[in-house]
Order: sequence, then structure tokens, then C-alpha cells
Amino acid sequence: MVGFDISDNAIESARLLSKKVDVECDFIQTDIYDISDDYNNRFDIVYISTGSLMWFPDISKFFKVINRILKVNGYVLIYEIHPFLLLLDEDNHDNPYELRYPYFRKEPLVFNDGLDYIGKVKNESALPSYNFDPTLSQIINGLIQNKMSIDQFEEYDHDISSLFGHLENDEIQIPKSFFLCGEKVSD
Ligand SMILES: C[S@@+](CC[C@H](N)C(=O)[O-])C[C@H]1O[C@@H](n2cnc3c(N)ncnc32)[C@H](O)[C@@H]1O
Repeated sequence: MVGFDISDNAIESARLLSKKVDVECDFIQTDIYDISDDYNNRFDIVYISTGSLMWFPDISKFFKVINRILKVNGYVLIYEIHPFLLLLDEDNHDNPYELRYPYFRKEPLVFNDGLDYIGKVKNESALPSYNFDPTLSQIINGLIQNKMSIDQFEEYDHDISSLFGHLENDEIQIPKSFFLCGEKVSD
């Protein structure tokens, strides 16, 4: 197994966690766009987990890399935050279903208050972060354009973002997460 992440801190904590649960895995610090050709046609499964796709300005280019590192007939499994959920403001508890952000965007959303969505601590001196938040069709087309078929697609009403716990068990069930399984058809 190999885990890729651009952040030294994420790599360090992944190494600690894998040691703790006694699972052997290599962790490589790299931008996904720059994964070395040494990994071409190497993997049976690529797993993309929560909060990953939003960071990539060109989602088709992202899936081009996924195709490159998968073996033919290998699977890409995506378990992600549903793009619809990202239209809401997680801090608006009075009117939680009010739409705050546009679905179709030409420019990324820029946040300047830090990224501590777990501890909810704002950091005004943080560097800006840019969220590209692909639409569902951009994600699906990203796979199709890069020679991957869609084998399974599921939408769920449970939250995996850590941002919308207050909507859990609400009568109004909006899509909060999804699972997509694609298969590499050819190089
Ligand atoms: C929200 S976290 C995902 C955490 C992980 N899915 C989990 O559930 O624990 C997003 C991760 O994407 C990484 N990331 C952002 N842009 C990246 C890029 N261009 N290449 C590789 N990793 C990137 C960040 O460093 C961060 O660790």
C-alpha cells in the first residue's frame, strides 16, 4: 500500500497512525499531479477519501493521474462529501438549508480563516485556501474522459465532512456523501 499527500504533516501523522494499528504502508509526500511514473500501472485499487477532490483545480487532470497509476481493470473507489452539501454554510444553524455558495463556479472559493474545521479555531493569519469543489458531473466526466467506467454510484444522507453534525437525523434528508466505484478500462 502507498499513501500520497502533499503535506509533510499529513504524511507524518499517517505514518504514526499506520504504526499504531500495525498496518504496513509507504507514505509519499507529493502533489497528486506529480506522482512519479514509477507508480504507473501499479495499483489494483486507488482509494480517494473524504475532503480530497476539492483541492484540485483541474479534476480531469487529477483522474488522468488515477488512470495512469491503476492497473487495467483496477478500481478507483471514491468516498467523498456530496457536492450539494458544499452549497450550505456550516455555521448557519438558524437556517441550515439556506444556500450560501453557487454550485457552478468559474472561480474557487477562497477562505482566509484557517482550516481547523475539527477544533473550529479561526486563524486570521493563515494563508488563504482555495476550494475548487467539482460538481458531480465534473467528477463523473473526469472518470469517463480518462478511460474509466462507472460500476457503482451511491448517495447517502450521512455526513462525513465533520461540518454538518447538526443536520444528523434531520427530517429533511439531503445528499451529504457519496460513493463511486470506477474501473480502469484501458491506458
Ligand atoms: C481534508 S484532508 C483529507 C483527509 C483524509 N481524507 C481523511 O479523511 O483523513 C485533505 C488532504 O488533501 C491533501 N492535499 C491537498 N492538495 C493536495 C495535492 N495537490 N496533492 C496531494 N495531496 C493534497 C492535504 O494535504 C490534506 O491532507
